[in-house]
Amino acid sequence: MHTIRLNLPQEAYDIAIAPGGLAKLGELMSHLHLGKQVLLVSNSVIFQYYGEQAIASLEDAGFNVSSYNLPDGEQYKTLASVEKLYNTALENHLERAATMVALGGGVIGDMTGFAAATWLRGINFVQVPTTLLAMVDAAIGGKTGVNHPQGKNLIGAFHQPKLVLIDPQVLQTLPEREFRAGMAEVIKYGVIWDAELFAQMEKCDRLDQFRYLSENLLQEILVRSCQAKADVVSKDEKEAGLRAILNYGHTIGHAVESLTGYRVVNHGEAVAIGMVAAGQLAVNLGLWEQESQNRQSSLIQKAGLPTKLPDGIDLDAIVDALQTDKKVKAGKVRFVLPTMIGVVKVTDQVSSAQIYQVLQQ
Ligand code: NAD
Ligand code: GLY
Repeated sequence: MHTIRLNLPQEAYDIAIAPGGLAKLGELMSHLHLGKQVLLVSNSVIFQYYGEQAIASLEDAGFNVSSYNLPDGEQYKTLASVEKLYNTALENHLERAATMVALGGGVIGDMTGFAAATWLRGINFVQVPTTLLAMVDAAIGGKTGVNHPQGKNLIGAFHQPKLVLIDPQVLQTLPEREFRAGMAEVIKYGVIWDAELFAQMEKCDRLDQFRYLSENLLQEILVRSCQAKADVVSKDEKEAGLRAILNYGHTIGHAVESLTGYRVVNHGEAVAIGMVAAGQLAVNLGLWEQESQNRQSSLIQKAGLPTKLPDGIDLDAIVDALQTDKKVKAGKVRFVLPTMIGVVKVTDQVSSAQIYQVLQQ
């Protein structure tokens, strides 16, 4: 087991990465001085694979466990779903010392975290991420929340988990497209923070499916990605500055995702396209070398992710959509741009004409 400690001014917690670690969930939680009551939150797809094992591990460690499955899908990441968790908490008399455990991807993690942040003004919360994206990104750092009909993640709270337990073996059942979506975030860490992670992935022939990665490489990818996220969050928990670099590839990516109705490309694919666009913008602005841009594109392709905009997308609509993005500050779009592999800078000095040019490219 590899453990990363995420240190924050008010609290600290472990990110434990352990093949087969799901069986140790109860034992690891028993060291955290939590109350005995646990509400395990999942969805029926994930629960059928891993629910019983998680419950058995918790009960063996002496926890009293109740469980609730929310419906599967981003469209259910709503206040109505969170209300169901409040009702379940009420029925099970969950007290202040109780813990909500999220067993699932980012959707389950974000909702469970938000329910835990708000039930009785905040109870304990543990993340057991089951998608690659949630392992390296969503489960770490305390951003929790739900969608509003007018926009993604508009309602939320910062609420840090007491533990993040990552068992890479659960990725065996993850659909391939979801695996690739997570790889986009892993590549992101290579570009923004960890040149060695980037170089290690370049040595691998294929990164597009779980089965092509050796156990060692997968462990290395998880450890280095989680370390990158922990480093950034520990320096800037509430996104006053540095944490914005985690949005690399997300500026144009979000516009592409929303303009295609969240159906044509998924989040990871949109981030991949957004990273290529941000890289090209950086090349055009003389900030980074074309050779680095080519290396980034090759790695993205190796992960089976797209490097080009979907056919027929309206370029003007992308430029317009950027103006309504959460990352707009004082009317200026903020871009995270690479300067060398492992280093990025944040700038709002990019004109609409420069954005349009890069989209054409
Ligand atoms: P997801 O939670 O929707 O999971 C993807 C699909 O995989 C679902 O159908 C799920 O049931 C299935 N699944 C999950 N684990 C599985 C497994 N081991 N085996 C088989 N099937 C499995 O998607 P996601 O990509 O994990 O998360 C996306 C969400 O995360 C978005 O709502 C996004 O806003 C959020 N997010 C949050 C943060 C944050 O910092 N809080 C960061 C990034 C993304
Ligand atoms: N996923 C971006 C962040 O956690 O800040």
